[in-house]
Amino acid sequence: MAHIIDGKVISVQIKDEVKSMAEELSAKGIEPCLAVILVGDNPASQVYVRNKKKACEYCGIKSLSYELSAETTEEELLSLIDELNAHKECNGILVQLPLPKHIDENKVLLRILPEKDVDGFHPYNAGLLSIGKADLKACTPAGCIELIKRSGVDITGRNCVVVGRSNIVGKPVGMLLLAENGTVTTCHSKTKDIKAVCKEADILVAAVGIPKFVKGDMVKEGACVIDVGINRMDNGKLCGDVDFDEVCKKAGYITPVPGGVGPMTIAMLMNNCIVACRKQNNL
Ligand code: GUN
Repeated sequence: MAHIIDGKVISVQIKDEVKSMAEELSAKGIEPCLAVILVGDNPASQVYVRNKKKACEYCGIKSLSYELSAETTEEELLSLIDELNAHKECNGILVQLPLPKHIDENKVLLRILPEKDVDGFHPYNAGLLSIGKADLKACTPAGCIELIKRSGVDITGRNCVVVGRSNIVGKPVGMLLLAENGTVTTCHSKTKDIKAVCKEADILVAAVGIPKFVKGDMVKEGACVIDVGINRMDNGKLCGDVDFDEVCKKAGYITPVPGGVGPMTIAMLMNNCIVACRKQNNL
C-alpha cells in the first residue's frame, strides 16, 4: 500500500512559510498585494477565486478583488490590466481562466507585465522556465515538485514520465523535473505504447484530463505517482487521472484527488506573490 501524499498538510506548511515571509516584508513597511480578476459567473471559477482571496487573508497578503460582468469587453479588461500594471502597490495580477468566449485569453495574458505574472503563464516566464531561470514558475507544476521533494523522493537521475503536454501543466512540469536532474519523457495522445513508457517511470505525473486514465498495470512497483487531474463526475464527485484504488496497491507514493495537487496550486500562487513583491522592491 502506497504512502499517501497529503497535499492539504504540505500546502498549509507552505502557506505558513509564506505568512512568515509576508511578516518580514511588513516589518520593512511593505505589504504584498495581489489583484484577482474574475470575469463572468462560472461557478467553479467563483469557488477558485474565493479560495485565492481566503488564502491571501491567511498569509497576510492584501487582495484587490475585481468581479466583472460576463459582458465586459476585451478593451475594458485590457485597460484594467494596464491600470494594475502601473499600480505601484499591486505586486501580482491574476486573471481567472477560462474567460468568456468573446475575450482572447492569449492577448489578455500577454498584457500582464511579466514581473506581475504570478500564474507564470506569460510566454516570457514560460521561456525563462525552459532555460531554468524563472522566478515566477507556473503554480500547479511547481506544486507537483514540492509534493515530490517534501515527501523525501529524490528526483536526480530518476525516470520521470509526464502524461499530457498542455502549456499550463504537462510542458512546465517536464521542464521543472529536468531542472531537478530527472530523466524526463513526455507522453501524449500520439505516443505509441503509453503503458510501456509509464511502466518505466520512477516518478509518474498524470495531467491528461481523462478520469482514471492511469491503471495499476501501467505503474512500476514503488513508483511515486502525482495525479494532477480534477475531473468532475456526473455524481458531482471529483476524480483524478489515476485509478487510485488500483494504483495505490503498486505505487510507493501517491497523491489523492481531492487533497493532493489541488491545494498546492494556491499555496504556490501565494509564494509567487512574495517572490514578485521582493523582486519589485529590489529585495
Ligand atoms: N483556471 C484554472 N486553473 C487556473 C489557474 O491556475 N490560474 C488561473 N488564472 N486560472 C485558472
